Amino acid sequence: MRTVIRDLLAASGPAASIEAAGWVRTRRDSKAFSFLELNDGSCLGNLQVIVDQGTPGSEDLTKMTTGASVVVVGKLVASQGGGQSWEVHATSLRLLGTAPEDFPLQKKGHSPEFLRSIAHLRPRTNLYGAMFRIRSRMSYAVHRFFQERAFHYIHTPIITASDCEGAGEMFRVTTHDPADPKPAKAEEDFFGKATHLTVSGQLEGEAFATALGSIYTFGPTFRAENSNTSRHAAEFWMIEPEMAFCDLQGDMDLAEEMVKYLVKEALEGQDGDLAIFERFVDKGLRARLEHVASEAFERVSYTEAVDILQKSGVKFEYPVEYGHNLQSEHERWLTEEHFKKPTTVYNYPKEIKPFYMRLNDDDKTVTAMDLLVPGIGEIVGGSQREERLDVLLANMERHGLSTEEYSWYVDTRRFGTVPHAGFGMGFERMLMFVTGMTNIRDVIPFARTPGHCEF
Ligand code: 4AD
Ligand code: MG
Repeated sequence: MRTVIRDLLAASGPAASIEAAGWVRTRRDSKAFSFLELNDGSCLGNLQVIVDQGTPGSEDLTKMTTGASVVVVGKLVASQGGGQSWEVHATSLRLLGTAPEDFPLQKKGHSPEFLRSIAHLRPRTNLYGAMFRIRSRMSYAVHRFFQERAFHYIHTPIITASDCEGAGEMFRVTTHDPADPKPAKAEEDFFGKATHLTVSGQLEGEAFATALGSIYTFGPTFRAENSNTSRHAAEFWMIEPEMAFCDLQGDMDLAEEMVKYLVKEALEGQDGDLAIFERFVDKGLRARLEHVASEAFERVSYTEAVDILQKSGVKFEYPVEYGHNLQSEHERWLTEEHFKKPTTVYNYPKEIKPFYMRLNDDDKTVTAMDLLVPGIGEIVGGSQREERLDVLLANMERHGLSTEEYSWYVDTRRFGTVPHAGFGMGFERMLMFVTGMTNIRDVIPFARTPGHCEF
């Protein structure tokens, strides 16, 4: 039975016979023996294997080059050298697959751009191996966070007929063959109407929150926004909690708590994977995350934020004007230069926000909130929802939404309506925040961005 290298490196004592398997990272030969560094993806560390000349299988040693796959049987013994406690003295080894000279991941530095072009192989590097193990653990932590707080996990649909955000950034779902000269007709299509990939599970989430109390979704989300930035992907994963009997304050509290929880998870729970980001990506990463985990976040209203930005004297590329969305340069200045900490901006003008947000008493702003973090900008967007039937209907009319098509959604306000609130957190942006990676293409296994769907 194979033991994963993570467990071998953490062994409590020597072992007479173990079996390990992995991919060769390096091989060094001396006269009497060879050293193999094997990695099996279970952790950042490699298993050092010492192979004496004449060991069964050692006749293939010259083929065990970087990238080749190997199975080794041997004794687990205390390591002579520094760096790790245990190493393996091989009693036999077996070559599974060679990696010829054109294996692209030879031992040298590679640019992120090059590694993106081999996204199917980059998880075999130390940095991306660590990245995707962190991604896995953070996913688990997301579920743990909600399950510990009695939230129910709801699988909202991927194919939908509603446009939650009203931004028109949807990918069409159709069975219509583009080569078919006959024009596509929505009513003749598979669902008998126009459908698309979801931009948010929120509306369906609201229906479930107004039944199960507190729910969350965590799934792939699709946006055909043509913004080719380092923070936007056409396919990304969003975490969306929705809570009945909750207002904007409770919503902001939960978003902050969740950011802190995930930051602590990154600091404590990653089997040393975070260290490689500290070493090669951001020297100040750990100190920065510790700061975020322990310190209170800032909260300002949109009106205050605009005022601060306008009085800052900074020459932004886009001017700051009340009634316009904050640009990422404004968000970053607020968190990086002004408050120097994560900041929640709330109560935005109703004109720039979707139909479902609750109108404030001033009749001008809605209970929107965005949580901004240094280095990234918006990581969470949410709101208290409009629970008053008449106000919701008026909002829908203002946004040109058909109350007939959304009648199922309106029902949540017709039958036992309650104050409720929720938010969406971009999972990739959270991963960028905790690893220091600056491009969203480097925190998702196979990135989809405008013009790019290679894998
Ligand atoms: O602010 P957004 O658009 O909010 C919603 O979709 C709400 N319906 C969520 C809710 O209240 N349930 O998106 C939420 C978050 C953003 O703050 C951002 O972190 C992330 O989703 N996000 C993206 N991440 C990567 N690529 C994109 N194209 C993204 N668009 C949004
Ligand atoms: Mg937003």
